[in-house]
Amino acid sequence: MDVFDSMKGRQSIRRFRKDPVPHDKILRMVEAATWAPSAGNAQNARFLVVEDPALLARMKGIVDNLLSRITGKEVPPDKINYHNLFAAAPAAVCVVGKPYESATDRNLREKDPERHRMRRYQVNAGLQSVASAITQFLLAAYSLGYGTCWMTGPLVAKPELESALSIRPPEELLAVIALGVPDSPPPKPPRRPPEEITDFR
Ligand SMILES: Cc1cc2nc3c(=O)[nH]c(=O)nc-3n(C[C@H](O)[C@H](O)[C@H](O)COP(=O)(O)O)c2cc1C
Repeated sequence: MDVFDSMKGRQSIRRFRKDPVPHDKILRMVEAATWAPSAGNAQNARFLVVEDPALLARMKGIVDNLLSRITGKEVPPDKINYHNLFAAAPAAVCVVGKPYESATDRNLREKDPERHRMRRYQVNAGLQSVASAITQFLLAAYSLGYGTCWMTGPLVAKPELESALSIRPPEELLAVIALGVPDSPPPKPPRRPPEEITDFR
């Protein structure tokens, strides 16, 4: 499939059929992610594929509890929403990342701590690298006939999910990708025209 066709055809899928996703297909998606650019070629993303219904239900419970706590309203156990829809997919791919520190970062930490802090929290090359890996995973999934939804909603319960998934520092959970065979894709959200968001100088 042409790369432009896959970029334009991919869309967030929030309802899935029950069919499991074969592991060789998931490994192809991960392979596509490994070809993404990463700062210093650190390849600092890892993919933890959760398929066990009991673990998916536990993760959903963690997210629902947290949401109930902050909204003051109980999330009904059968309610699928923006934060927990990964649990209704046959697989939830938990994207785990490691922080990235270049030689420049190490020098800055000593010589200019304020600039070091700014680079770490605002530039965050490690996080940008993981995002590029996720994008390639999503495009590969689409071209193999699978639907995905890139999710940070569940990370409202980041520490609790990390503990349930045994993700320990320096690694951290950065996103969850709901993955499966799409069940009736919704209308495609529109895009801004390229001229509107491009400046030539
Ligand atoms: C960083 C990031 C976090 C997102 N988190 C969620 C989420 O938690 N739940 C959800 O349903 N969609 C989530 N989305 C999907 C966006 O809502 C979606 O990409 C956007 O509306 C554009 O639609 P499209 O992906 O169909 O083109 C997220 C997307 C990104 C890039």
